[in-house]
Amino acid sequence: MKIYDFKKEINNKDLNQITKELKDGNLVIFPTETVYGIGANAFNEKAINKIFEAKGRKNDNPLIVHVSDYEMINACVKKISPMEKRIIDYFMPGPLTLILPKKDIIPQNVTSNLDTVGIRMPNNKIAHSLIKKCGFPIAAPSANISTKPSGTKIEDIIDEFKEKVSIIIDGGESDIGLESTVLKVIDGMPTILRPGKITDLDIKKITGKCIYSPNLNEIKTGVVESPGLKYKHYAPTTPALLIYNDDESKMIELIKNNITSNTIIIGFYEHQVFFNNRFISLGHKNDLNEISHNIFSCLRKADLLKGDLLIIEGVKKDGIGIAIMNRLIKSCNHNYIDN
Ligand code: TXA
Ligand code: MG
Repeated sequence: MKIYDFKKEINNKDLNQITKELKDGNLVIFPTETVYGIGANAFNEKAINKIFEAKGRKNDNPLIVHVSDYEMINACVKKISPMEKRIIDYFMPGPLTLILPKKDIIPQNVTSNLDTVGIRMPNNKIAHSLIKKCGFPIAAPSANISTKPSGTKIEDIIDEFKEKVSIIIDGGESDIGLESTVLKVIDGMPTILRPGKITDLDIKKITGKCIYSPNLNEIKTGVVESPGLKYKHYAPTTPALLIYNDDESKMIELIKNNITSNTIIIGFYEHQVFFNNRFISLGHKNDLNEISHNIFSCLRKADLLKGDLLIIEGVKKDGIGIAIMNRLIKSCNHNYIDN
């Protein structure tokens, strides 16, 4: 495995080498504005199988396909409705994945035999240059072993993947830190299957309507609209408890009541003074962007401290707070106290 450092600039000679690896059917970890992706040529069935193996991912959980421009979307999908076109024009490139009817050129293992494919155009210079240079789309799930928190900096994921991929591109810390919003227009209604930085209100501004898929945070079984919803996700090894209350002093009280002999707390910067425990700061309490940026690396840090319980402070389910709580509820395996 080789690491290429593109933090300061993209080296063209190296980019050619990385492109060649992808053409040869090998795996490359690359940065996007949301989280790191573990990518392969989306048109190469064998290369796609390597992604499922490397992540230990169930093969009924489809991958999303990353493109560099509108022409590449057209190469992958059969039909785009006027509403979907407006969504693409407004939100791409950006942290949105749109589910569209797929063409046969996308192998069945990419989409786990669904007749739709998730399309995403990352707004990250390195990802964009890489896909453009390849000339083919790159299928890429988040770079993490299945069930573990997504990778938002390479230091967090090198050990997991050094034997499994050809190249890791270092683009520094992911800007957003939470995966893209997954959206599907179902019977004319834009429906969010996975919440992200782009919220229902953002989409409503363009389409006039948008809903969150019901029971977004519930445990799912059987056939679901977005197969990824079924699986355990983002989970640290340490048992975790999520606590949220609209009343801040009550929230601190609740945390204190649940502390065990060896509890690690992941909480807001301002709240460290209230606890004697080992404390990992999520960021400032009113800065939801900072919190989303930090979440996954905080969960990984917490595991290294080897406590017997991890207590995580929650945020109000509003704006990007909806996505933050969605990930935290899953991290805690639905073990949470809400008001
Ligand atoms: O920000 C992101 O989306 C990152 C970066 C690397 O782009 N990727 C990512 O991929 O989070 P992944 O595989 O970890 O999550 C993709 C989600 C899964 O929950 C999957 O079930 C859902 O999208 N998905 C993919 N294709 C789908 C389809 N055709 N229909 C419904 N859901 C789909
Ligand atoms: Mg993932």
